[in-house]
Amino acid sequence: MENSGQTPSEIRHRIWMELGRATQDRLHAWRTPVLATTAEDGLPDARTVVLREADANTAHLRFYTDGRSAKISHLSGQPQAVLVFWSKRLNWQLRMRVSITTHAAGPVVDAVWARVSQSAAADDYLSPYAPGSALSAATPTAAPSRHHLAVLSAEVHDIDWLELARGGHRRARLGADTWDWLTP
Ligand SMILES: Cc1cc2nc3c(=O)[nH]c(=O)nc-3n(C[C@H](O)[C@H](O)[C@H](O)COP(=O)(O)O)c2cc1C
Repeated sequence: MENSGQTPSEIRHRIWMELGRATQDRLHAWRTPVLATTAEDGLPDARTVVLREADANTAHLRFYTDGRSAKISHLSGQPQAVLVFWSKRLNWQLRMRVSITTHAAGPVVDAVWARVSQSAAADDYLSPYAPGSALSAATPTAAPSRHHLAVLSAEVHDIDWLELARGGHRRARLGADTWDWLTP
């Protein structure tokens, strides 16, 4: 493993640096965290998403999704969610408690769509069918006329950081301005 630094501030800095890298590097393990939400029936649900943006200064992450997907209705009922990242290279796991704001329209979505619409991923947001809708119920419709891109903005409240190492695991809870070492 690369030297992760020893002090809390070095580790915190490294975490956000790696999150930033993951938005640029398709091979970075932290590019595809698992997002866990609470469904309308109170039960947990989880799925993989792509990390699109990471802002260390504001402690915000961004994801893109289809505005008709189940996770959107989960988040409208319960905006508190959990993100789990694991990197074998770093031997680091992150479990983040976040609250998520959904942008389904407006300037934030318009700015992202201006970029995404020019990319191969545009089709992901142009299907006339809602994600998860039954194929048997799907009827042919006219060519897609509008996109369904939604931007998820996650405010990171705290991070449970776990490092696996032969010489001894380490774990800590990082708040905005706090650092607590925990038993792994
Ligand atoms: C590697 C990988 C990356 C994915 N990235 C995204 C993503 O960025 N946004 C998204 O909405 N779904 C993404 N998905 C699909 C989701 O995991 C999920 O199947 C879909 O969003 C429907 O989830 P929901 O019904 O819980 O809303 C990805 C799946 C995989 C396997």
